[in-house]
Amino acid sequence: MFQLNALVRPNIQSLQPYQSARDDFKSDEGFFYDANENPYGHLNRYPDPRQNTLKETLSSLKNIPRNNIFIGNGSDEAIDILIRIFCCPNKDKIIICPPTYGMYKVSAHINHIDIITVPLTETFELNIPRLMTYGHLNNDSQVKLIFLCSPNNPTGNSLNNIDTILKSFKGIVVIDEAYIDFSNKTSYSQRLNEFPNMVVLQTLSKAWGMAAARIGIAMASEDVISFMNNIKPPYNISKLNQVAALKALQNTQRFQKQIDTILKQKQWLCNQLSQIKCITKIHPSDANFILVETIDANRIYNYLILLKIIVRNRNSEIKNCLRITVGTPHENKIFINALKKFK
Ligand SMILES: Cc1ncc(COP(=O)(O)O)c(C=O)c1O
Repeated sequence: MFQLNALVRPNIQSLQPYQSARDDFKSDEGFFYDANENPYGHLNRYPDPRQNTLKETLSSLKNIPRNNIFIGNGSDEAIDILIRIFCCPNKDKIIICPPTYGMYKVSAHINHIDIITVPLTETFELNIPRLMTYGHLNNDSQVKLIFLCSPNNPTGNSLNNIDTILKSFKGIVVIDEAYIDFSNKTSYSQRLNEFPNMVVLQTLSKAWGMAAARIGIAMASEDVISFMNNIKPPYNISKLNQVAALKALQNTQRFQKQIDTILKQKQWLCNQLSQIKCITKIHPSDANFILVETIDANRIYNYLILLKIIVRNRNSEIKNCLRITVGTPHENKIFINALKKFK
């Protein structure tokens, strides 16, 4: 039987959260003498700390009840908040499966949390036998979180066997779906009722084209979401960003059209890359980027930088690999032409 309270840090369980000035009065119209704001101007009032309108929109878009949704200042904020809810500094641990998104490790280090590393297999799949040999998947109460990224950054593939982890891990399983809108896989968010130990992360930074607005989404049980709301800074999403996000979310047609174009361009890039000599392998991708193996990642990376073409050099993690984000058709042509000239 899953018991959330056994996992939450005692100081977070007993936390008295900050009471926002507007918690008792939910309207834009009134005489506001409570929050020491300047009475003049159009950005003079604090934003809605619960982001109610944005949550309503996300709720119908993602088919998730509003109370199962948390909005963070990017999903990076949600990652940090999850670590702070569940992991006592200097005591608890998280599991990560590299090569994967770098912020899980950075957030753990910032919070003084130990990391157990269970690398992906050669084909970038979860190493289930090795994950299973860890007592943490059964009784080690100090391993509080496991971060799974699917589709995975930087490898691009969707992970198989996530269900096995969800069913066996006694801590919280965080599934980072930052790139899910580019894949044809169903989001785990549709299975919240099945897995009380699951948190699904998504973001408006990728397929929705809103990276500058910093809107991350966590979907989980109402109890987990309530802990997340308790420890977030009260006004973590600015009014400007809430309005911008709402506007972007209205335009589902543009969203779909951009995804279609990006996926077609990904296919075009893969075809082109397969004919270029310095590229030795193209990894399959369910995301909006492609991981390629090259004859010499450092040299190619430096060559491209001189041409103001910036790719991600992943050589330190995956030998001779570069991660290439899909750009516009115009950018992609320039990129391919530059790569063809590499000597
Ligand atoms: C897997 C993954 N998760 C989360 C993020 C961060 O997203 P956000 O912009 O919402 O903080 C990124 C950004 O690159 C990512 O690749």
